[in-house]
Amino acid sequence: MTQQDVACYSLDQFDGMRAAGRLAAATLDYITPFVKPGVTTGQLDKLLEEYMRDHGAVPGTLNYHGYPKASCISANHIVCHGIPGDKILYSGDIINIDITPILDGWYGDTSRMYYVGTPSVKAKRVCEAAYFSMMAGIEKALIGNTVGDIGRAIETVAHNERFSVVEDFCGHGVGKSFHMLPNILNYGKPGEGMMLKEGMIFTVEPMVNTGGPEVQILSDGWTAITKDRSLSAQFEHTIGITPNGPEIFTLSPKGYTFPPYPEDA
Ligand code: MF3
Ligand code: CO
Ligand code: CO
Repeated sequence: MTQQDVACYSLDQFDGMRAAGRLAAATLDYITPFVKPGVTTGQLDKLLEEYMRDHGAVPGTLNYHGYPKASCISANHIVCHGIPGDKILYSGDIINIDITPILDGWYGDTSRMYYVGTPSVKAKRVCEAAYFSMMAGIEKALIGNTVGDIGRAIETVAHNERFSVVEDFCGHGVGKSFHMLPNILNYGKPGEGMMLKEGMIFTVEPMVNTGGPEVQILSDGWTAITKDRSLSAQFEHTIGITPNGPEIFTLSPKGYTFPPYPEDA
């Protein structure tokens, strides 16, 4: 891959991403009070789909390479791409909800962790580690830095907590399509890899495991779980590179960052 393969947008095109990102984040805000013991992931998916459509968007995951749902909902040892269905949420579960509404052709890709009832101390710790590793990566998203600077910042936060980062999935360029270059690996060496340029738009989405980094894909062809069945957590923001630093398109309108959210009280 060369630097030329990477889509760069002009800063006046960022408005489309601002709107798509804001809707994605508002959708995650909206679902917060529904994440309770007893609800199924399929019921949450229906609500998410309705909200996105009611606000003029189409769920980007639906039929994406055959993916069947409007969201990915990944509980506990599921690393990512959990398919919503009959799974009932129980107190103590931690879940990631990942959505990508397409609004006026622009893809806003974001995910957060949610607590169902009261999770264990370790479950809370891995959620917080995933959040702070994502934010550490975003802080390095500066013109002239490289993707290796982002990856190193991400893995350092996870390793300081004695957790591992998944190496089989990465952040990605996004904008007028869902997945493109650059790849934003969740590990790396400072100064190595592709250089960051003004107008690049990509996601930062580290997955942090309490055990080892290895994953396994279930027979549905999508669901990724930790090989050792340890807990996994992930957050995702979509950002754009500007001369003033990273602009986060998917910030919560309600100011939510990591759980517990105000509704959980
Ligand atoms: N939203 C995921 C990401 O962050 C991709 C999901 S693709 C799907 O890149 F097909 F699994 F939905
Ligand atoms: Co993504
Ligand atoms: Co996503």
